[in-house]
Amino acid sequence: YIHPIILSGGSGTRLWPLSRAAYPKQLLSLVDKETMLQATLARATSLPRTQAPILVCNSEHRFLIREQCEAIDITPAAIYLESIGRNTAPAIALAAFHLAQTDENAMMLVLPADHVIDDQAAFAEAVKTAAHAAQEDYLVTFGVVPHAPETGYGYIKAGEAISLATPTSLTPCRVQSFYEKPDRETAESYLKEGGYSWNSGMFVFTAKRYLQELRRHRPDIFAAVHKAWQERTADIGFIRPCESAFFACPSDSIDYAVMQNTEQAAVVPAQFGWSDVGSWDSLWGIAPKDKNGNVTNGDVYLADTKNSYIRTENRLVSVIGLEDVVVIETADAVLVMHKSKAQLIKNAVQHCKAND
Ligand code: GDD
Ligand code: MG
Repeated sequence: YIHPIILSGGSGTRLWPLSRAAYPKQLLSLVDKETMLQATLARATSLPRTQAPILVCNSEHRFLIREQCEAIDITPAAIYLESIGRNTAPAIALAAFHLAQTDENAMMLVLPADHVIDDQAAFAEAVKTAAHAAQEDYLVTFGVVPHAPETGYGYIKAGEAISLATPTSLTPCRVQSFYEKPDRETAESYLKEGGYSWNSGMFVFTAKRYLQELRRHRPDIFAAVHKAWQERTADIGFIRPCESAFFACPSDSIDYAVMQNTEQAAVVPAQFGWSDVGSWDSLWGIAPKDKNGNVTNGDVYLADTKNSYIRTENRLVSVIGLEDVVVIETADAVLVMHKSKAQLIKNAVQHCKAND
């Protein structure tokens, strides 16, 4: 059986000013009517041989999350609440400790709540392949063919092919190296060199294997989460790790903490139409466009404007004579940005926080 672990703790700062700490992107209907969290839950639970999902999310969002699960008739096996996020390595560890208490070989499928996947059948085949590899003790990633030197992704260099005891239609490879969020120059050199794929941010491994590798490479995180998990409390359908112990845990992502360091990683080709809705330019990339390549939402007037993404909540927005811009209007903030600078929004959000 596969246990989907849904990560929904990020605040999605790169989709500011629409995505906010109190209402992050995965809880918004950005692409479809359903929210990205709901799409992720539906995708995970319709895979063959899956158990009820485990959610790890921010405590502030607990009622929204429960409502969104109920609205699509999904009852999670557990909802873990973090009062402060410590990034994905600790969040995944909470779920791993949870599963390991009954079965340390429990198979985890870690899914960020902010991805779009087009081909469910191909996704199911990739997950099946990954689960076979994970049974052979690998930590499995899904590799997406890169089409630009994006700096917001992890880069995976594939090594030798793995012949599985139970072969499927896909061939996993060992990961020769994993490099999280390289700078522009490095990303360009990877594309030129070839043989690299983007890390999709989804993972498959057994609870035991993840905890072993976390303990080996980040014993500090392992120990802090272990303590926080052991001293957890449960209330009306939610589980809370001990706040002070979790607060004391170093903050790091699985990518830096484990995937860059482990020698036991494998990569399965992700040929299922993956995109992450991580930034305004990626949202532009997957949305239907008009004949000038524009995507508009709300009351928008355009003239002589191309390849732009304009979204307005309240006021009329006019854009004249520009290309490759993103304009987002909300009640209390307006973003105007060149589409190629989407990764810099994090700085703007930092600035807002500093002036709070
Ligand atoms: N519960 C919890 N707690 N979830 C979290 C936390 C946290 O503290 N921080 C982030 N998440 C969730 C986010 O909501 C998102 O669903 C997922 O974990 C990944 O976090 P991101 O912040 O979106 O990571 P990223 O996009 O910078 O990088 C990751 O994804 C890329 C592909 O989209 C990495 O895995 C990259 O290597 C990868 O290429
Ligand atoms: Mg992301």
